[in-house]
Amino acid sequence: VTLLCAAATAAEYPDRPVTIVVPFAAGGPTDKVARDLAEAMRKPMGGQSIIIDNVGGAGGTLGATKVARAANDGYTLLLHHAGISTAPTLYRKLAYNTLDDFEYLGMINEVPMTLIGRPTLPANNFAELRKWLDANKGKINLANAGIGAASHLCGLLLQSSLKIDMQTVPYKGTAPAMNDLLGGQVDLMCDQTTNTTGQIEAGKVKVYAVTTTKRLTTPALKNVPTMDELGVKGFNVTIWHALYAPKGTPKAVTDKINAALRVALKDPDFIKREEALGAVVVNDARIGGAEHKKFVEAEINKWSPIIKAAGQYAE
Ligand code: MLT
Repeated sequence: VTLLCAAATAAEYPDRPVTIVVPFAAGGPTDKVARDLAEAMRKPMGGQSIIIDNVGGAGGTLGATKVARAANDGYTLLLHHAGISTAPTLYRKLAYNTLDDFEYLGMINEVPMTLIGRPTLPANNFAELRKWLDANKGKINLANAGIGAASHLCGLLLQSSLKIDMQTVPYKGTAPAMNDLLGGQVDLMCDQTTNTTGQIEAGKVKVYAVTTTKRLTTPALKNVPTMDELGVKGFNVTIWHALYAPKGTPKAVTDKINAALRVALKDPDFIKREEALGAVVVNDARIGGAEHKKFVEAEINKWSPIIKAAGQYAE
C-alpha cells in the first residue's frame, strides 16, 4: 500500500506550494538567482507557487542543514552554490554530508566575482589598492557572508595571494554587507557580479578586478581587468549555483523538478536577466542530477587543498 501511496503522491506532485531555501539574506546574489529561477520554474511546475525562505548564517551552512533535515517529499528544496563544496573543508563538524545528505537536482548558472571597495577608499585602481593595503596592514576590514560563503572563499584567496591578513566582517549575506560597504563601515568585498554590477554601473563602489581568467563582456564590466592580468597569477574564482533536495526524495519527484529546471534554464527572459548581470546559464550535462553530483565531487577535490593551503586566513 505504501508503494501505491508514494506513487500516487509523486503523480500529483506538486499539489501545493514548493519552498526553496536560500541560505543567505534576501537581496543578495543567491537570493537573486533563486527568485529569478522560481519565476521561470513556476509554469513548468504546474503553476504552483514557489516560496523563497531565506535562512542566513554560518556561510550558508545553516540553510543547507535545514534542507538536509527537511521532509524528503520535494516541497523543501535548497538553492546553494560552490559553498556547499567548500564548507566541508572549513568546518570541523558540519551537520550534513554534502555528498550523502542531498539529492542533486541540477545546476543553474556560473557567476564571476568582482573585487570592490567602499566609495571613499583612496585607491582608484589595483596598483593604488595594493599600496593602500600595505600602508594599512592590520586595519583592513573585508566583508563576507560567513565562513564557507563564496565571498569568504574569494577573500581567503585574495589574502593568501597578496599575503595580507585582513579583519573579516561576516554578514548573513552580501546584500547587508553591501549596505555597510556603501556606508563606508567596511573597506573591501569580493562578491558576485549578480550583486555588484548595478553598484559598479552606478559608480557607487570602487571596482578593482574581476576574478575570472578572461575579461567579462557585460558593458559595465568589460573594462575591469582580471586578477591574473594584474599580476595575481592563476587567480580564478567562478561561483556556480544549483538545486538540491533532501536525500530520499522519490525519483519520480526529483525527475519532475529536474524537468521543470530544464524548461526554466531555456527561458529567454531568465537567460537575459542572468547575462545582464554577468552570469552564464548552464546548458551542458550538469543540468542533470548525476552530472551535477559528479561536478560537486570534483569541486570538493579541487577546493579542499587550495583552502587548506590558504588555511591560516580562514579564521
Ligand atoms: C556568498 O556566498 O557570498 C553569498 O552568495 C552571498 C549572498 O548570496 O548573499
